[in-house]
Amino acid sequence: MASFLSFLLLFSLLLISLSHAQRHLKPNTLVLPVSKDGATHLYVTTIHKRTPLLPVPFVLDLNGLFLWVNCEHQYLSSTYRAPRCHSAQCSIANTHRCRTCPSPARPGCHNNTCSLVPVNPVTNKSGNGELAQDVLSIQLTDGSNSGPMVTVPGFLFACAPAFLLQGPLPIGVQGIAGLGRTQIALPTQLASHFGFRPKFALCLTSSASNGVIFFGDGPYMMLPGIDISQAIGHTPLVISPQGEYYIGVRSIRINNKLVPLNTSLLSKNIYGFSGTMISTVVPYTILETSIYKAVTQFFANELYWVHRVAPVAPFGVCFNSTNITSTRVGPGVPNIDLVLQNENVVWRIFGVNSMVRTGQDVLCLGFVDGGPHPMASIVIGGHQLEDNLLQFDLSRSSLGFSSSLLFRRTSCANFNFTSNS
Ligand SMILES: *[C@@H]1O[C@H](CO)[C@@H](O)[C@H](O)[C@H]1NC(C)=O
Ligand SMILES: *[C@@H]1O[C@H](CO)[C@@H](O)[C@H](O)[C@H]1NC(C)=O
Ligand SMILES: *[C@@H]1O[C@H](CO)[C@@H](O)[C@H](O)[C@H]1NC(C)=O
Ligand SMILES: *[C@@H]1O[C@H](CO)[C@@H](O)[C@H](O)[C@H]1NC(C)=O
Ligand SMILES: *[C@@H]1O[C@H](CO)[C@@H](O)[C@H](O)[C@H]1NC(C)=O
Ligand SMILES: *[C@@H]1O[C@H](CO)[C@@H](O)[C@H](O)[C@H]1NC(C)=O
Repeated sequence: MASFLSFLLLFSLLLISLSHAQRHLKPNTLVLPVSKDGATHLYVTTIHKRTPLLPVPFVLDLNGLFLWVNCEHQYLSSTYRAPRCHSAQCSIANTHRCRTCPSPARPGCHNNTCSLVPVNPVTNKSGNGELAQDVLSIQLTDGSNSGPMVTVPGFLFACAPAFLLQGPLPIGVQGIAGLGRTQIALPTQLASHFGFRPKFALCLTSSASNGVIFFGDGPYMMLPGIDISQAIGHTPLVISPQGEYYIGVRSIRINNKLVPLNTSLLSKNIYGFSGTMISTVVPYTILETSIYKAVTQFFANELYWVHRVAPVAPFGVCFNSTNITSTRVGPGVPNIDLVLQNENVVWRIFGVNSMVRTGQDVLCLGFVDGGPHPMASIVIGGHQLEDNLLQFDLSRSSLGFSSSLLFRRTSCANFNFTSNS
């Protein structure tokens, strides 16, 4: 009897440790909350780092090359490490420059470590940083709720000087979380540590309520029980040599009519390929001047029955909104279609993503003039991304996009962050 009891005990211990191991060693999908800062129009995500664990707020930069954090301001952690110059970690981070630092030693200041150059994507300023490693913790998800935290003990990032945080950044932010296509950006590091395919999905909100970033595969369930990873369009993702994300827009339609454009501009950018970049650090879509003029004029003509009012910067075309109706997907204005690899693959922009309310009865077309030589002829910005799901599949170089989730009676604010663990 006693041995049977001890067998039972052993067996249940085994079961507990097995389920423990399954939970902690083989996650398929991870989640981060992300919200919009009203003052700067930037998106902020809070990541748990260090020992003891501390929630640290970061600005999200879709095209950022890695995660960097200000190390000069109270970086207290018992698990901080700076890999030696020429170590394996430095090769993963693709940095071969050795660094020295006058004493005293502190996080960000060691001799014989590797150098990384963190960039502030808002001011374009860059600095000199140290490649570092520390604990990073992130929540698991079963697809519909957040779950327990899992840990990457030696997450690679850059330790940056404090001055890089100057500029119009949200209050309290300590660095930039890059999601670019590099070996040490968040998506790749999480995927390779936990052994899932490098894939992530962005779902940004237009407010301070939490939107969500999923790392790994769907389903991505939003309340009331809608899997937003289903029924999405796909287009090839083009990755610049720096690891930034571009897609190929072939033409633009407004109200289902082709906007006359110099299409050779659409296929051109500073690298000479697919000209449309996606960015989370640009609040409104930027268009090269001739594209901007063509689009805004065409749009205003299609909305001829609504009175124009004096433009409100940074926008060039604004309307008296008293005669514009409201629909499920925002103001009832002509749809703007970005036509992708063929006529049938279209990213449709509804009123909620095209128009910006700047006054009680003023609605402006939320696109801005990027001048004659922007870094890409189209840079799709935050306002046009909100309440849309964008799934970046890095191993297949494919972008999945949902268009407005409001059509499906849900939104990016509808992920249930109540843990059911
Ligand atoms: C780096 O080496 C220099 C020269 O040996 C020394 O003066 C300095 O204190 C060292 N810095 C650190 C952070 O150990
Ligand atoms: C940063 O660089 C981008 C691209 O070159 C440019 O469009 C933007 O105006 C620059 N921002 C500042 C604040 O200089
Ligand atoms: C179209 O754009 C290309 C690339 O900028 C330029 O070389 C060409 O002159 C433009 N064509 C017209 C008709 O404006
Ligand atoms: C609204 O529509 C009415 C009726 O068509 C028109 O008379 C009026 O001028 C419009 N007002 C604005 C502000 O567009
Ligand atoms: C918009 O139109 C309404 C009704 O015609 C008018 O009362 C209001 O002053 C107009 N607003 C602006 C900003 O022009
Ligand atoms: C969110 O998830 C929790 C835990 O499963 C559940 O109790 C709660 O009802 C959910 N919230 C909504 C609004 O469905």
